[in-house]
Amino acid sequence: MALAPETSRFLRRILSVPLLVLGALACGDRGAGGRESTGPGAGGPAVGATLLGSDSERSGAAVYERENCARCHSQLDGPAVTGPVRLPLPQGRPVSRVGPDLGAEGHRRSDDWQYAHLYAPSAITPGSPMPASRSLFRPGAHGRPEPTVEAADLVAYLQALGRGRRDVWAEFRRSEPEVAPPPATGRALLERGTLLYAELCASCHGLSGDGCGEVAPLLAIPPRDLTAAHYRFKSTPGGEPPEDGDLYRILTLGTGLGSSMPAFYWLPPEDRWALVSRVKDFSPRLRETGLLASAARPEGPGAEGPAEQGGEAGALARGRRLWGDLGCAGCHGAEGRGMAREEGPFVWADPDGAAVPGSGDLTHACALRGGASPRAIERAIVVGVGLMMPAYGDALEGEEDRRALRAFVLALQDAPEGP
Ligand code: HEC
Ligand code: HEC
Ligand code: HEC
Repeated sequence: MALAPETSRFLRRILSVPLLVLGALACGDRGAGGRESTGPGAGGPAVGATLLGSDSERSGAAVYERENCARCHSQLDGPAVTGPVRLPLPQGRPVSRVGPDLGAEGHRRSDDWQYAHLYAPSAITPGSPMPASRSLFRPGAHGRPEPTVEAADLVAYLQALGRGRRDVWAEFRRSEPEVAPPPATGRALLERGTLLYAELCASCHGLSGDGCGEVAPLLAIPPRDLTAAHYRFKSTPGGEPPEDGDLYRILTLGTGLGSSMPAFYWLPPEDRWALVSRVKDFSPRLRETGLLASAARPEGPGAEGPAEQGGEAGALARGRRLWGDLGCAGCHGAEGRGMAREEGPFVWADPDGAAVPGSGDLTHACALRGGASPRAIERAIVVGVGLMMPAYGDALEGEEDRRALRAFVLALQDAPEGP
């Protein structure tokens, strides 16, 4: 199903309001501006590329036609309706004149990424011949481009493509990526990583890894400063460094609709490890520590219990009680749709002082930045996320509670889509 209207309202809030706060904190004056978006699939059922669900998506289709996007883009390669998830073809490298097929573009990337790309394609994808659609933006506060209603409609349209047939990206985010065994470390691997990094990452994270790449000023949620190495989506407690497998996993998965970090599942495992090696080398703390396939943490049976499979009523009721007792609703809202920073009980900031824009929407697999698999949810609950999401490992009495809460949080996600 499409994101509910409340969800899109939430996304709109986290994408627009906090910019004012974020702007001043990182990378000098990033500028700030409202980011009006109707959100992916706003209103009504998303029914795919041809039958569009909302007024915004329909208007977006008209903008797509008027801007002649089809001159370079086909929309043939939609997701297969049945069978295992067949992900769209890897993003074309080297960049050719013809744009990639957009048949499964819906929910592949965040609105944030789409806006930055429409505004400055070659900044986000070096060498891209796609023309910049500057007329779809107006100057925002502090010089940050602000999407017009037409840009928001166009992005709503892009976010609907293919999803009526099957939401492959939601399925992708619900599965835990496999962490391949790491190759031998050394100069050659690091050099490979450095090359790939310059091509695929520096536009956002900066050549020196400081999070201040060319595109950074266009993004609502700032790219991570890889030199400071304060990571969020990991399996180790609080201030501890991430496991190598955590970095490999987030690189594979990206951060979905929640922020602009793309998914690099399409790179061969050795290249992903080369990038992990590069990323670690930016940080004095993580440098020269070799590469280790991680022990799966948090410990405990990782296999999905009956609670995940069938939404067993008893476990769900217990999970709901824990959700209430542990105060989850206080920061995520009763329905798990998330809260903007201003609504939360504290002033949320990460270890670098940058604002944490919101607690995150837990109701759609694509909106969860750290992944939507049972393990991803369990990691977030047990070890926390960044500075602001507390660790509940000690508060949960035993495996049964942990499982029940995990099952409840998983059940907040809309019913699985697809066949
Ligand atoms: C001159 C050809 C050309 C035109 C016209 C063009 N594009 Fe592109 N587009 C490309 C190329 C090449 C890429 C791949 C490189 C990149 O990411 O910029 C691309 C990438 C994209 C992507 C990213 C796909 C992905 O997920 O990797 C989207 C979305 C997109 N274009 C949308 C549009 C829209 C919307 C328009 C009309 C406003 C448009 N394009 C017009 C050539 C074009
Ligand atoms: C379009 C911009 C963009 C590109 C390109 C990009 N990233 Fe990111 N990256 C981000 C943003 C934004 C975040 C912060 C995500 C969040 O907190 O939700 C991030 C976060 C990360 C994190 C931290 C995850 C955590 O657990 O805290 C790592 C590691 C990372 N990126 C590595 C890379 C690497 C390696 C590449 C290239 C292969 C890359 N990124 C390309 C935008 C980008
Ligand atoms: C004090 C406020 C607070 C409380 C209480 C809280 N959370 Fe969170 N939670 C957050 C914030 C803020 C984030 C995002 C952190 C960030 O981006 O740095 C988050 C992130 C998460 C995530 C990861 C979201 C993603 O995008 O991947 C999950 C899952 C989650 N919380 C579940 C829970 C559950 C379950 C509870 C109750 C046991 C809970 N939270 C209690 C503030 C809170």
